[in-house]
Amino acid sequence: MSRPLSLTLRVALLLAAVSVASFVAVGAYLYHALQRQMSSRDDVELIVKADQVRHLIAGMPSADAVRQEAHALKDTLYGHNDFMLRVNAADGKPLLQTSVTSRPLPQVDSVPAQRALTLDDIHDWQPASGIGRMVRAAGQAGADPVQVTLARERSDRLRVLRVYAGDLLLALGCGALLATLLGYAIVHRSMRQLRSVVAKANDISTSRMNSRLSVQDAPVELRELGSAFNAMLNRLEDGVQRLSGFAADLAHDMRTPLNTLMMETQVALSRARPVEEYQSLLASNLEEYERLSRMIDNTLFLARVDNAQLALQREPLDLPAELQRIHDYFEFLADDAGVRLSVQAEPLRASIDPVLLQRAVSNLMANALAHTPAGGTVALSARQVEEGVEIAVANSGPGIERAHLPHIFDRYYRADQARSAGAGLGLSIVRAIMELHGGNISVASHAGLTTFSLLFKKI
Ligand SMILES: Nc1ncnc2c1ncn2[C@@H]1O[C@H](COP(=O)(O)OP(=O)(O)O)[C@@H](O)[C@H]1O
Ligand SMILES: [Mg+2]
Repeated sequence: MSRPLSLTLRVALLLAAVSVASFVAVGAYLYHALQRQMSSRDDVELIVKADQVRHLIAGMPSADAVRQEAHALKDTLYGHNDFMLRVNAADGKPLLQTSVTSRPLPQVDSVPAQRALTLDDIHDWQPASGIGRMVRAAGQAGADPVQVTLARERSDRLRVLRVYAGDLLLALGCGALLATLLGYAIVHRSMRQLRSVVAKANDISTSRMNSRLSVQDAPVELRELGSAFNAMLNRLEDGVQRLSGFAADLAHDMRTPLNTLMMETQVALSRARPVEEYQSLLASNLEEYERLSRMIDNTLFLARVDNAQLALQREPLDLPAELQRIHDYFEFLADDAGVRLSVQAEPLRASIDPVLLQRAVSNLMANALAHTPAGGTVALSARQVEEGVEIAVANSGPGIERAHLPHIFDRYYRADQARSAGAGLGLSIVRAIMELHGGNISVASHAGLTTFSLLFKKI
């Protein structure tokens, strides 16, 4: 499998491709401009020479003089080896011929003697070397009409153009190479910021999570990445902190019952005892085991909610029936504690997970019973409110101190350790269940009355 190209190399290659393309375009334009200019200059030269020859011939008395004065005519072409001059008499007999071409000149119209030559009078012809230009014009030597033909090969011109094209190609290659190298260097430099992100990311571990990217001096493109990265670190740090706090709390809360168990067992084993004593010890141990087991269950439940591994199974519930069932379950406990239990539910149906509803309300009921003095009341109720359905558990009693209120939904938080039978997880579980349902929990506690309300929103 081939490794994907680095971003730096990609941008550098792209830059090279773009510069090659623009160099080629400019080179082609320059080449054609030069070619056009050279050929128009050559054509003008051809006309000037042809006119010069015509003028000289016009100064001669007869066609025969042309033959005798050939050297004067040839002199006009001195230094121009690529020119070829022919002068013919009216009957076609050659009067002068500077060199012989391997190929015949084409038959083209002759320009009348009185008319001056223009660029339009020039024609292409095909010498052996490839391409040439020619002009044919009538002249007058005294009374004798003659025909002047001036032709020129352009092979040396093409040679010049070829050399020029070669130079252009070389410059183009060098330019492209330079653009690629410069592009690579520039991109490599600008990627420095990105590499610093990588270095920072490498530097971060669970024990060193407080490092953050400085986004102020980063380029705009990286600022967003940096902010997202920092936000992710914040979330991770928060999660790690909560997790380690959670583990510490759990360890702390499990240690107490475990130590009790260990100590009691050690004391029991220190000497032989009557069977009844062992029995009572085992019975008291069983209570602690149950407490531990509940704590582990609750912790696991919260962990599953945290990891979104818990799927809601909503069912249309008949609320009066559900609340009655819970009421019946707690009736004996209430009787034992000398607390009066009441239930009052409007005939409502709501789409709620039945197992979780029972768990949430039972937690509230257990708390209420634990904090209601003998002779007090606990009231369970359900009513329709504007936003949905509200289920409330209210109990008489001293209430919760204002200072504790903001914390009682936190994990492992217990305001009154003496009365609490649990590990401080009950209310956090209720809150988690409400969050799963998209609802919320609220508490109001005044002297004499504490009310926990669960709001299940309409769905
Ligand atoms: N009905 C209530 N009346 C007074 N205090 C309460 C009531 N319900 C809960 N609390 C306080 O909130 C704390 C947290 O409750 P919870 O999370 O259920 O933990 P736990 O019951 O295990 O102590 C309790 O320790 C208690 O101090
Ligand atoms: Mg509780």
